Amino acid sequence: MEKTEILAPSPGKHNLENYEEAYKNFRWEDVEKEFSWYTTGKVNMAYECVDRHCETWRKNKVALYYSDGVRDEKYTFQDMKFMSNKVANVLKKLGIEKGDRVFIFMPRSPELYFAVLGILKIGAICGPLFEAFMMDAVRDRMQDCDAVALFTTPKLMERVDLPNLPALKHVILVGAKDEDLTDPRFHSFEKLMEEASREFDIVWVDREDPMMIHYTSGSTGKPKGVLHVHNAMIQHYQTAKWVLDLQEEDIYWCTADPGWVTGTSYGIFGPWLNGASSVIRGGRFSPDDWYATIEKYGVTVWYSAPTAFRMLMAAGDELVKKYDLSSLRHILSVGEPLNPEVVRWGMKVFGIRIHDTWWMTETGGQLICNYPCMPIKPGSMGRPFPGVYAAIVDDQGNELPPYRMGNLAIRKGWPSMMRAIWKNEEKYKEYFRLEPWYISGDSAYKDEDGYFWFQGRVDDVINTSGERVGPFEVESKLVEHPAVAEAGVIGKPDPLRGEIIKAFISLREGYTWTPELEEDIKQFVKKGLAAHAAPREIEVRDKLPKTRSGKIMRRVLKAWELGLPTGDLSTMED
Ligand code: WTA
Repeated sequence: MEKTEILAPSPGKHNLENYEEAYKNFRWEDVEKEFSWYTTGKVNMAYECVDRHCETWRKNKVALYYSDGVRDEKYTFQDMKFMSNKVANVLKKLGIEKGDRVFIFMPRSPELYFAVLGILKIGAICGPLFEAFMMDAVRDRMQDCDAVALFTTPKLMERVDLPNLPALKHVILVGAKDEDLTDPRFHSFEKLMEEASREFDIVWVDREDPMMIHYTSGSTGKPKGVLHVHNAMIQHYQTAKWVLDLQEEDIYWCTADPGWVTGTSYGIFGPWLNGASSVIRGGRFSPDDWYATIEKYGVTVWYSAPTAFRMLMAAGDELVKKYDLSSLRHILSVGEPLNPEVVRWGMKVFGIRIHDTWWMTETGGQLICNYPCMPIKPGSMGRPFPGVYAAIVDDQGNELPPYRMGNLAIRKGWPSMMRAIWKNEEKYKEYFRLEPWYISGDSAYKDEDGYFWFQGRVDDVINTSGERVGPFEVESKLVEHPAVAEAGVIGKPDPLRGEIIKAFISLREGYTWTPELEEDIKQFVKKGLAAHAAPREIEVRDKLPKTRSGKIMRRVLKAWELGLPTGDLSTMED
C-alpha cells in the first residue's frame, strides 16, 4: 500500500488546541451555559445571532459585508438587529404567527439575511429556496409546506405558480415598482419596512421549536422537507468555533447560497453566533471576482466546495498571482469528495491546507472534520467532532473494524440533528431504522487512526457540483415531455463537477432522435426544475432495464455507462 501523505497541523493559535483531549472530555451540555437561555429558559436563534451582541461593544462591529458589483454595503450587528426587527414587525402586521412557514426565494442580498432573521424572530419557520429553481421546483416545495408568505423579487415572481398555491396569503416583493403590485396579496418590501418600527419584542420559543426547513433530495419520491429546530444553535456555535476556528478579528466568507444548508448553518448561524464578520458576495461564480473578493475584504477564513476549487484550479495559477491573497489563514470545504490533488494545489497556491468537512442537510451541522490543530491525510474527511460518535456499520447495524467499507453511521442525538421530515414520518424513520444509528446513505471506511474515508453513496442520489439531485425528480420531469416514453437517470463521474446527470430514455412512437429534440428535452427539464437538475447527456435506447414490477434499474444503467458487469439480473423483466 502507498504510504499515506500527511500534512502537519496549521501554524498559529487555534480555538481547539488538542483534538484528542477534547474528544475525551467535551460535552454538549457545557456549551449550553454560554447562551442566555441557559438561565432565562427563553430561546431564539435570531436573538443569539444578533441581538445578544448588541448588549456589548460588538454592536458596532460589522456583521455583514455585501457586494455584488453594483451594491457595496456593510451592516453592523446593531443594523442587523434593527433591520430584522423591522421584518418581524412587517410579518406580525400581516398576521403571520409562530409556526407558520415563510419562504424566501430571492438572490443573495442583505434583504435576504434580514428576512431570515426576521422570520425567526416571530417564531415562524423559514424555508429558503435557491434562486435558480424554476416553477415546478418552487411550487412542489411551497405546496408541501403550505407556505403562507413569501419574500421574492418581481423578476422571480414569474416562477411562482400562484394559482396552485392556495395557502399563500402574502407575497413581499423586494425592489417592486407600483405596477408590479398587481394582486391584493402583493406588498412592497421597501414600503412595509419604511413604516415598520425598529423595536420588536422577540417571540421566545422552546429549544425544540421548529426553525428552518431545507428541501433535499433522496433516491425516491419528491424532495423532502428537512426540519431543524432552534436547539441546533449549540452545534452551529461550537463547530464554527472549533472547525471554522472563528476568532474575533476574522473576516469570514462562506460561498454557499442560503438555499442550501451550508449557506444557513455556516453562512448565517455559525459565524454570527460567534460574533464574526461575514462577507456575502452576490452574483455568480467567477474566478476573478472570487479572488478579488478575498483581496478586497482581506478574507481570513474561507468555506467553499470542491467544484469551486476545481474551477479555480482550472482557471490557472497565473490568475492567483494577480491578487493579494495573503490574508487567508484557514480554508475549508464541504459537499463532495475533496480530491487530494486539490489539497496539494491549495498548498501550492495559497500555502495552506484545505480542510475537508463532512455533513448533510439532515445533520444540520458538521460531524466529521479536519481541524487546524490536527494532521490531515489528503482524501480523508477527517475525524468525528467531539461529542459525536461516528462508525462504519453493516446492514444490520453492527460496527465494522478499520478498513472495512460499509454504511457511514452516527450515533443519534447530536444537537443539530433534523427533527422531522415534513409530513413524512415514514421517511424520517428510515434514517433511524438501525437503532441507535442515524444511517447517512454514504458509504465509507475508517482507518486505524480513526480518520474516515468517503467511498460513495449507497443509494442513487446524484451529487453534481456539490448539489444533491434526486434521480426520481428528474425522471418524473423527463417523462412529462411528449417525446419521452421512459427515463432513467444516473450520475456519471466527471472530473470537474464530481458527477454530471446522465439520462437514458426511450422515445414514444413517432419521434426520431435529433440534436434539436435532445436540446428541447434538456431545456424542458431546465425550465421546469433548475439548470443544475437538467441532464447534460441523454442517451436513447429502445428499452430500459426494468424490474418485473416496472421499476427502472438505475444500477444497470450505471453499469452500462461505466462498462461494468451488470450483476444480478434475476429481478429484471424479460
Ligand atoms: C456528500 C451538504 C464527500 C455526501 C452539507 C452527503 C460529501 C451529501 C462531503 C450531503 C465530503 C458532503 N466528502 N462527500 N466532505 N460532504 N458530501 O445534504 O454524499 O447537500 O451525503 O449537505 O453530500 O449533501 P447535502
